Amino acid sequence: MSETLTAPAALMDRDLEVVDPEIARWIAAEARRQNEGLELIASENWVSRAVREAQGSVLTNKYAEGYPGKRYYGGCEFVDRVEQLAIDRAKSLFAAEHANVQPHSGSQANMSVYLTALKPGDTILGMDLSHGGHLTHGHPLSFSGREYKVVAYGVRREDERIDYDRLAELAREHRPKLIIAGASAYAREINFARFGDVAREVGAALMCDIAHIAGLVIAGLHQSPVPHAPFVTTTTHKTLRGPRGGLVLCRAEHAKDLDRNVFPGIQGGPLEHVIAAKAVAFAEAARPDFVAYQKRVVENARALAAALSSRGFRLVSGGTDNHVMMVDVGARGISGRDAEKMLEAVGITVNKNTIPFDTRPPMVASGIRLGTPAVTTRGMGPAEMETIGAAIARALEAGEDAATRAETRRRVGELCAAFPLV
Ligand SMILES: Cc1ncc(COP(=O)(O)O)c(C=O)c1O
Repeated sequence: MSETLTAPAALMDRDLEVVDPEIARWIAAEARRQNEGLELIASENWVSRAVREAQGSVLTNKYAEGYPGKRYYGGCEFVDRVEQLAIDRAKSLFAAEHANVQPHSGSQANMSVYLTALKPGDTILGMDLSHGGHLTHGHPLSFSGREYKVVAYGVRREDERIDYDRLAELAREHRPKLIIAGASAYAREINFARFGDVAREVGAALMCDIAHIAGLVIAGLHQSPVPHAPFVTTTTHKTLRGPRGGLVLCRAEHAKDLDRNVFPGIQGGPLEHVIAAKAVAFAEAARPDFVAYQKRVVENARALAAALSSRGFRLVSGGTDNHVMMVDVGARGISGRDAEKMLEAVGITVNKNTIPFDTRPPMVASGIRLGTPAVTTRGMGPAEMETIGAAIARALEAGEDAATRAETRRRVGELCAAFPLV
């Protein structure tokens, strides 16, 4: 007979607070921070308890290299069901021919497409980071800028919207192998059909990265890229409101190559607990109330944009069509870095961001990026956006004034208390 269990084994079924009080303490502190502050980071959201339950499940124990029905490990019969459900739900949500739910992040989703569509040294045409693009769309410090020759398109100076004519000129001139549509900091609808036309004309593949707007696409509030692009990538944790992770959709003809480039190309064992949580989020996104949620996200973004404009803040491109807005705080003599700090001091979380044609470096920046997905999940609506707009204006105008800061922090706290997170 085995010996009595030793101390480490006995710890297996103890609460986190008992096993690791330090980590438990910081998780509790983070939960409090999320509850007591306004989360306006455009790429963040608050997931359901069901998503967290799936992600915290025993599936984390399982190795499952390969794909459903073709694994390199035994004991995969149940994770196969989980992953297949996630795949089927993703395909159905986006009306896509093929889905790979294994990428650990949006960056890896993008990398797997590059490996599928490109050879090292090929040319890619992506949106300039300082105009709203993402690091993985060709920034010199990212794999995308190191492995490939990068040509960047951007927005027009006059209206700060994507310059599709210039995009077409650049495509004709440089003949890229892959064109990348999609952005991290762009408040206007993206014309994926136009991108599709340009790509076809020059014989390039098209990848549409809908990391930010995936929820809006599902809800029919933004045109879908799927009919126009052989490859579509997204994160699952922004407007889509799932766990942190990535997803690739592609046409059937690329399915085999794409799967091979995710595993074993760039990843080992899939995170089946995260994939289960993605499946739950996809099921949630198929419900009618998800459409209502996304409509409210957009309505709230418009209300917040209006609240800030009416208080004299310039919005890049004059407003927003989606869940995000870029505020040119530089025009008010404040850097994005300082604005981020001033807002943090009153319990409002945002991120500094360069704006098109910015003269400040990225770590200082002239803009802040705001988004409404997380506050909308809390149940807030346009009336609260007006209150938030007023609080932002007060905090930025107050500068270091301690009394105004304290008063604004108190009001932010009251608003948060009226919309508790579960
Ligand atoms: C457009 C876009 N693509 C890709 C990513 C990368 O996602 P991740 O942070 O999961 O690697 C982001 C994240 O901010 C993004 O905004």
